[in-house]
Amino acid sequence: MSNLSVVGLQWGDEGKGKIIDYLAGRYDAVARFNGGSNAGHTVVIGGMKHTFHLIPSGALKGKELLVGAAVALDPVVMGEELSLLPDDVRRRLLVDGRCGVVSPVDKDFDRMLEEMRGQSAIGTTRRGIGPSYALRALRLTPRVSDLVDGFDFGPLTDFYRKLSLDPAGLISWAEDSKKLLRDMVGNVSSRVAEITEKGGSVLFEGSQGTLLDLMHGSYPYVTSTHTTASYIPSALGIPPSMAGSALGVTKCYATRVGGGPFPTEITGPLADSIRSLGKEYGATTGRPRRVGWLDLVALKYAIALNGATEIAVSKLDVLSQVKDFRVCTSYRYQGKLTTDFQSALGHLDEVEPVYDSPLSIHGASFAGGIPDEISKLIDYLEERLKVRVSLVSHGEERSETIEV
Ligand code: IMP
Ligand code: MG
Repeated sequence: MSNLSVVGLQWGDEGKGKIIDYLAGRYDAVARFNGGSNAGHTVVIGGMKHTFHLIPSGALKGKELLVGAAVALDPVVMGEELSLLPDDVRRRLLVDGRCGVVSPVDKDFDRMLEEMRGQSAIGTTRRGIGPSYALRALRLTPRVSDLVDGFDFGPLTDFYRKLSLDPAGLISWAEDSKKLLRDMVGNVSSRVAEITEKGGSVLFEGSQGTLLDLMHGSYPYVTSTHTTASYIPSALGIPPSMAGSALGVTKCYATRVGGGPFPTEITGPLADSIRSLGKEYGATTGRPRRVGWLDLVALKYAIALNGATEIAVSKLDVLSQVKDFRVCTSYRYQGKLTTDFQSALGHLDEVEPVYDSPLSIHGASFAGGIPDEISKLIDYLEERLKVRVSLVSHGEERSETIEV
């Protein structure tokens, strides 16, 4: 079996955590490759809900857990997360020494930037992720290895002070972080290479979604890192040939949390009902998510960017409880139709979605496997998107996943 990445094809919250947990049994390790504690990956087993922010979602499958160098690592969040998980998780965890860390001051910095933006705030998770990555580019962010080996905090504290941010407490935070991290720090690049070269395989866990990618998403309403499978080699420090293939995850509708354009957004009672049926509230921030129809224009773009050869479609139980079913098949802009998301990126807030109502999935029941209505939907999506639908998810429980 070769390596596989699981990436989000929308604005995050597609259900990646559940799919990773489902697939993890077939791999030797799960490696998180991007983002930080802004992510919230949820796995539900027997009614027990686990939300992962930094620990790879293979934690409950007994697998080796790797956190790659491009992850913005918040030691406080990692410590809290570990305290809620069985002890053996800690023993299975390897954090790359080159990860940049997120300090408590980065969270103040994040809040300050959002307040400064006022009306045009991005709606970040305020987890300090953007500031940590920005300071990394400025060569000021300590790495995990720096916390463990000793770091000169002088330039960083001076910088924070110049921005009127209070660096007091940084030294004791660094001491506590060192205690937590020293037993788990290592080299994730060589571990992935070792597993792969011995004939084993690694599942790569992406966070956020393609449309939130710093370069290729709806900038500036994006996250502060790359979110696509193309990032895996440099993020983990492995050759491109080791990245394997990509499985994209999409809901059968769309959600977005935070600001920014969302062409297929709907509001009113139907949106409220989908939000409530789908429990569409942020796993990290608790914010209600904006809700809309599935956007095939955006999805095609995301599939292409990731080179996804298969997709998982989630939340089918939600839309099967709703009478209306639509998908956006093109955008109208200045009187012209387009299916090219890339060319629409500059004016996404002005496009008018054109919908198709291909079929009804209302009342579909999953009791006996994949119902006819869903088979038809799978055919429709495969035909339109030129990609295989390999998994469908029809509930939050681990058991509510079907292989197509
Ligand atoms: P940041 O990543 O906290 O800087 O937030 C930037 C944007 O990405 C905001 O719109 C956030 O709501 C969004 N975002 C960040 N992480 C996630 C995630 O894991 N799921 C969904 N949206 C996210
Ligand atoms: Mg999430």
